[in-house]
Amino acid sequence: MAINILITSGPTREYIDPVRFISNASSGKMGKALVDEALKQNCKVIVVKGTSSIDIQNTKNCKVIDVVSAKDMLLAVKKNLKSADIFIGAAAVSDYRPAVVAKNKIKKKDIGNETITLKLVKNPDIIKYVSLHKKNQVVVGFALETKNLISYAKTKLKEKKLDMIVANSSSTISSKNSAPTLIFKSGKVKKLELLSKEKVAKEIINESIRIFKTIKTC
Ligand code: C5P
Repeated sequence: MAINILITSGPTREYIDPVRFISNASSGKMGKALVDEALKQNCKVIVVKGTSSIDIQNTKNCKVIDVVSAKDMLLAVKKNLKSADIFIGAAAVSDYRPAVVAKNKIKKKDIGNETITLKLVKNPDIIKYVSLHKKNQVVVGFALETKNLISYAKTKLKEKKLDMIVANSSSTISSKNSAPTLIFKSGKVKKLELLSKEKVAKEIINESIRIFKTIKTC
């Protein structure tokens, strides 16, 4: 039986008004590389894709669900989690969203001040939701940091109750290559050399399937 993999990919977008939004520089390349590798290994894939321009084709074994915001992404993940054997949270989810989305474009003259304050509220943590509700499923997350990469990643692994975390330096964002460290729930640490995102994806899918097989035989 094919292994089912649910992947989140790319950035989310949080609208301030009908034409402005908060987002980040994620290209969605890692998510696409993970989808391609999973399909190569005969898995069935559902990808919940944020707002990157990268193209992922709907095929017999790959369902693409386009979303905009973190709340949309969570909804799509909730709907598709049950059938997943492995969840990989590769999306760069906006941590916060505007508390209020203006119905019309915010005009300078409407405000009149030199500075304005945008009130933000915390978005749901999608991968945390998955970890809290998982049933014999493998959960893999990503960490991207500008400092203390490994210690922050280890904290995230524990807090988000992940099976594995892929720790990346901030130079990875939008790049074709990365040199991540894979950190496992077991305590094992595997540092990868600088590789294309396709080769990194192969390592991540291989490790995820390996963990899934150990869970299945327990
Ligand atoms: O907390 P941080 O954003 O650094 O965590 C990164 C990991 O958590 C990634 O796997 C990302 O997809 C996931 N995440 C999530 N929902 C959020 C924030 C992050 O699923 N709201």
